[in-house]
Amino acid sequence: MKSTLHETRNSLPEKVRRKSIDLLNQHLADVLDLGLQAKQAHWNVKEPNFIALHELFDKVAEELEEFTDDIAERAVELGGVAQGTVQVVSKHSRLAVYPLNLSSGKGHIAALAGALAQFGASARTAIDSAAKFGDADTADLFTGVSRGVDKLLWMVEAHSQSKD
Ligand SMILES: [Fe+2]
Repeated sequence: MKSTLHETRNSLPEKVRRKSIDLLNQHLADVLDLGLQAKQAHWNVKEPNFIALHELFDKVAEELEEFTDDIAERAVELGGVAQGTVQVVSKHSRLAVYPLNLSSGKGHIAALAGALAQFGASARTAIDSAAKFGDADTADLFTGVSRGVDKLLWMVEAHSQSKD
């Protein structure tokens, strides 16, 4: 995902900025896909608990939107181009394709929890990558994203973990 580098007075070395921009753009594609997956669940879920799940999935999409903006804007802050078109997302997202035939709450919960877990794991790995190549701020951004996605995963998974 090579991107043009704009001039900036940002003090991070160009080599570091390039690595961060690539890492950010990869996660931008993933999180845009994830946000649409949450909307897909929000629109299509059908079951007795409809309203709770309908609203939960919308909350997930809304919270992901904030992370999406932070990730995209940091790529631009570092002199990069945020690559957030549907064509790029479709080509580069690493998430599993969201099934179009789901309707039960159980099905949507399992699909969305899987996608959140996959994205969360990658955001957590990105913390260490960014710290290792010398961009503590991008590592901090991914720390916030990863913590937030852990919370969203809990909220979705809690609907399928009742033991009594
Ligand atoms: Fe809605």
